[in-house]
Amino acid sequence: ADGPARVVVDLDLPGPTISRHLYGHFAEHLGRCIYGGFFVGEDSEIPHVGGIRADVVEALRALRIPNLRWPGGCFADEYHWRDGIGPREQRPRMVNSHWGDVVEDNSFGTHEFMDLVEMLGAEAYISGNVGSGTVAEMSEWVEYLTRADDSPMAALRRSNGRDEPWRVPFFGIGNESWGCGGNLRAEDYVGLARRYSTFVRDHGEHRITRIAAGANVDDFAWTEALMRSAPDGRAPWQAISLHNYTMTGPWEAKGSATEFSEREWYLALSRALRTEELVARHAHIMDQHDPAQRIALVLDEWGTWWDVEPGTDPGFLHQQNTVRDALVAALHFDGFHRHADRLRMANIAQTVNVLQAMVLTDPATGALVLTPSYHVFAMNADHQDASALATHVVLPEAPAEVDGRALPLMSASASVRTGERHEQAGDSALISLTNLSADTPRTLLLDLRGRRVVGHRAEVLTGESTAAHNTPEHPRAVAPAALTTVREHERGLELELPPHSFATVALQLA
Ligand code: AHR
Repeated sequence: ADGPARVVVDLDLPGPTISRHLYGHFAEHLGRCIYGGFFVGEDSEIPHVGGIRADVVEALRALRIPNLRWPGGCFADEYHWRDGIGPREQRPRMVNSHWGDVVEDNSFGTHEFMDLVEMLGAEAYISGNVGSGTVAEMSEWVEYLTRADDSPMAALRRSNGRDEPWRVPFFGIGNESWGCGGNLRAEDYVGLARRYSTFVRDHGEHRITRIAAGANVDDFAWTEALMRSAPDGRAPWQAISLHNYTMTGPWEAKGSATEFSEREWYLALSRALRTEELVARHAHIMDQHDPAQRIALVLDEWGTWWDVEPGTDPGFLHQQNTVRDALVAALHFDGFHRHADRLRMANIAQTVNVLQAMVLTDPATGALVLTPSYHVFAMNADHQDASALATHVVLPEAPAEVDGRALPLMSASASVRTGERHEQAGDSALISLTNLSADTPRTLLLDLRGRRVVGHRAEVLTGESTAAHNTPEHPRAVAPAALTTVREHERGLELELPPHSFATVALQLA
């Protein structure tokens, strides 16, 4: 196309709702995510409520975190919930064989997790144990969590100090059952998933979305097997999951979080786009068996996975987080918004101190740092529960080709919120813009069609280099700032985006 780069948005054509749960999170008993991250214990000098770190909660509340998945991950399939209730000093210990082979003292268990979720104002997504747990154990956990009367498990919960049942809207039927969750074949897992899901009961008025453990990356046969068992979208589960991580090397050498070449910059961004391709292809299989879209697709593990920071425990998966991670997140969200009809939940791995975290805490000083990825979640928060808008990016140049895939150097998505539905004054829209170029700024015309725009506010997130990141010494090296280059144009707005940047433009609509 000739002319300037354009992002065309049809403001008057609202599409599917972008579930707020697409902005969900994941916290596993892994490295310093739970212990030392969320949970510092009651004796800590770090300000806490019942051992839960107050500043971590405050930071995540500001993101409007909609749900938190726990206790794993691979840990979920060796976790026995009864070990994590009752007086802490009497709780049995176990070995966390997946993550660092450390001894787990079970001091953070069901009550601590549900307290955390309440403090966050989020919803609970609990992953049950299929790999090494029994059907009865899973069934009783659900009864313990959600039953109101004087049933045996409700009574046990009361004896541990919690009278009212909790709300647990999401329950996972195992995790990665093709791998760490039991090395099962698809046909064997399907049988187990049907059986375990049956005994995850809806107690009283409480309703659970059961999430069957889905495919890894491009294992379309796994999705096919699950969906074949759900003709017309009718199965004992209501959702199936998918996992896909972004890395630039093989498993043995995934690449450094902070030291990477320009080639690795573009490779990471190209691989981030692969997630959307995978979502579309798994969703296509689901469409064949469930055209009414009864069953949701849940990407309950996604994000960057780099080599651990030098000098840290290889089993703890602790990594830094740069502008590159922020743009990987931004590209994922654009794809999520485009597939919001079928994709209804996603959980970034893993919130605090592990993989693509929102928050990093210093083990020595306790200092807390917000990562560049955190800021993308914050800047995009108004997409939660808004209606997706069709958005077209028209570029004057042909896309680059990276890793066998076309890589356009601009990405965008948009949504609209109506005053009526969202209890706000008037209607508004949010446009997200990513300039993938490592070194070139971009002049962009926002071609805004169908509604009159009466006000705008824009923010930008970038850093001095593609590898810029935040540390306790420089906590705002990568932080949102006002984007001052926006000017009015007869077709909407015109603006300049710096290289390697993410921006949001909030519009007030007449
Ligand atoms: O997020 C880290 C691990 O990645 C999870 O425990 C597992 O489900 C996946 O392989």
